[in-house]
Amino acid sequence: MNKEIKLSKNTMIVSETNSKGHIIYANSDFCKISGFTKEELIGKPHSMVRHEDMPRAAFKDLWKTVQKGKTWKGIVKNLCKNGDYYWVNATAYPVEKSNGKHRFISVRIKPTAKEIENAQKAYKKLLKEEK
Ligand SMILES: Cc1cc2nc3c(=O)[nH]c(=O)nc-3n(C[C@H](O)[C@H](O)[C@H](O)COP(=O)(O)O)c2cc1C
Repeated sequence: MNKEIKLSKNTMIVSETNSKGHIIYANSDFCKISGFTKEELIGKPHSMVRHEDMPRAAFKDLWKTVQKGKTWKGIVKNLCKNGDYYWVNATAYPVEKSNGKHRFISVRIKPTAKEIENAQKAYKKLLKEEK
């Protein structure tokens, strides 16, 4: 059985992507919780940690928001290397580099039990609609 990995209060999972969503930076908490090494994460599409319980609509909304220059917030269920999973309270936002290119950063902290419960309900509904 795949189990839930619970974040601690001081866990902060950080990643940065290029404009195509390929991971260009991952911090040590990302590696610790997901079980992937930095080498395994860097250069890969961020969808490598997508959990099948996550509706595509959530990420469409994330991309639409950050591409408009805005900050996106949401509750996300992610996949670990060994099939376990973890819930995060995620914030994603764009940064413009001096060369005019855009990159995207996401910072993730421990969600509350209520936030997970609400997200689970909403995503179940969305997933059904997507099938
Ligand atoms: C800064 C940033 C962080 C992201 N973090 C995650 C994440 O933690 N988990 C995830 O499944 N997708 C994340 N995504 C979204 C993925 O790029 C992708 O859209 C998503 O996994 C769905 O895959 P798909 O676009 O192939 O349908 C992130 C995107 C950005 C820009």
